[in-house]
Amino acid sequence: MTIYQDLQKKAKEMQGFNLREAFEKDNKRFQKFHVEWQDFLLDYSKNLIDEKTMKLLEKWANECQLSSAIQSMFNGEKINTTENRAVLHTALRNRSSNPIFVDGKDVMPDVLKVLDHMHQFSDAIRNGTWLGATNKRITDIINIGIGGSDLGPVMATKALTPYCEPSLHMHFVSNVDGTDMAEALRQCHPETTLFIISSKTFTTLETMTNAKTARAWLSKALGENAIAKHFVAVSTNEKEVKKFGIDTENMFVFWNWVGGRYSIWGAIGLSLMIAIGYDNFIQMLEGAHAMDQHFKTADFKNNMPVILGLLGAWYTGYMGAESYAVLPYDQYLSRLPAYLQQLDMESNGKSIDKNGKIISYPTGPILFGEPGTNGQHSFYQLIHQGTHLIPVDFIAPIHSHNEIGNHHDILLANVVAQSEALMRGKNKKELKDEGISKELIPFKTFTGNRPSNTILIDKITPYTLGALIALYEHKVFVMGILWNINSFDQFGVELGKQLAKNILPELTDKHKKLNHDSSTNALVEKIRKMRK
Ligand code: F6P
Repeated sequence: MTIYQDLQKKAKEMQGFNLREAFEKDNKRFQKFHVEWQDFLLDYSKNLIDEKTMKLLEKWANECQLSSAIQSMFNGEKINTTENRAVLHTALRNRSSNPIFVDGKDVMPDVLKVLDHMHQFSDAIRNGTWLGATNKRITDIINIGIGGSDLGPVMATKALTPYCEPSLHMHFVSNVDGTDMAEALRQCHPETTLFIISSKTFTTLETMTNAKTARAWLSKALGENAIAKHFVAVSTNEKEVKKFGIDTENMFVFWNWVGGRYSIWGAIGLSLMIAIGYDNFIQMLEGAHAMDQHFKTADFKNNMPVILGLLGAWYTGYMGAESYAVLPYDQYLSRLPAYLQQLDMESNGKSIDKNGKIISYPTGPILFGEPGTNGQHSFYQLIHQGTHLIPVDFIAPIHSHNEIGNHHDILLANVVAQSEALMRGKNKKELKDEGISKELIPFKTFTGNRPSNTILIDKITPYTLGALIALYEHKVFVMGILWNINSFDQFGVELGKQLAKNILPELTDKHKKLNHDSSTNALVEKIRKMRK
């Protein structure tokens, strides 16, 4: 039997598995299925697994040569085969003195040089030595970028609010919807505003449209000569940055071996570094680097990213789960699910394997989430009593930055209670004992047996946030290896972009002949008519 057949057989067997009974039978279940690493605890005992499942999943990982795949990534091999690129976001946070080679060249001197450039610049903004064109201090920073050039800085700036310099106002404009830009500009004054144009390619339509609008706004108020003091760029594309009119002295570079959704660790993190300061940014890199070491060296049984990846692939591939929820019990982590959506779904939303063959098994799940306890009062109903199997990751810091009264105890009580409720459910007997009427019992019954991981972290700090993001990056990597897909390209986003470019002139020129299907033609015609 192949490992896939073994796992299929095991999954069938697990149809009769009951988590509540498993806990009742084995008081060492938590002991067996949890890992502690630094300030993190991963409790994965409330999953639809037994020891044999974990053994089989590990065997699967071994057959896929996960260990050597991990080494290949860290060693800078060109594992992004469709784009012939290395995948080295880990080099951006390499805090050791070890060199990392791409095409025979150690990339670390360049990485450290950019970090130093970011350090000088962010300090200058924070301490007021960098002034605007009219010699005023910068008070507002607008990061213009989208996808990986936006979500990381947005998520982390929000997550690290307690570490942000309060006199600096951070804004993030991503959407080409003019409202996004208009609302940011409304809050800013040209003399005190700095724009960071963040785009790996410096050709992304949304970002370049927003950047041009920002330039027009600034030069209208202060003249073209002011651009140099109010615009910096983060990109891999020096030529386009120059063309846009930004001095390359004020360009922060990165390299094509850093994927957009993995780019927060370097120059794309400039807005974040300005907000939290260099030392805190370095702490974030330290945390991620520590998680990298854990991922590289811990055996699979004690390896957090490996365990999360194996469980994720188990549910998607064998247990029929199509989605999964990330539920942070920390208001500061409210953008984490959105960040992880890109990380996970852009990486593993693939239906072609590494050999170019159509895949016959499910891959990347649909990820969603909201902070608890808010989610409890909306979509948790479906997770508890709906017809879908939705594995959950609960994430909670044990200490809050805002210990007001007993708020945090209530929050923690809720996260623990949710995982218990999903696991145990509530049966007929319990309802009867509570005096629930016979007619209502079916409605009030909870089947339980619904899986969750709980990740407890001492406190959300730059260090632990870095480790948490790296944990999920590596989890996504593990799943990609198990599914034999390239997690580092994203051709799926191209088609929509191309078609939008074709449709744009058709909207503005009503004489252009339309050659689409009847629906697309009708939509274009309606818009043409209404936008007169
Ligand atoms: O939409 C796809 C994508 O290429 C993402 O992967 C990327 O993060 C985003 O667009 C932004 O790209 P860029 O940084 O080149 O503007």
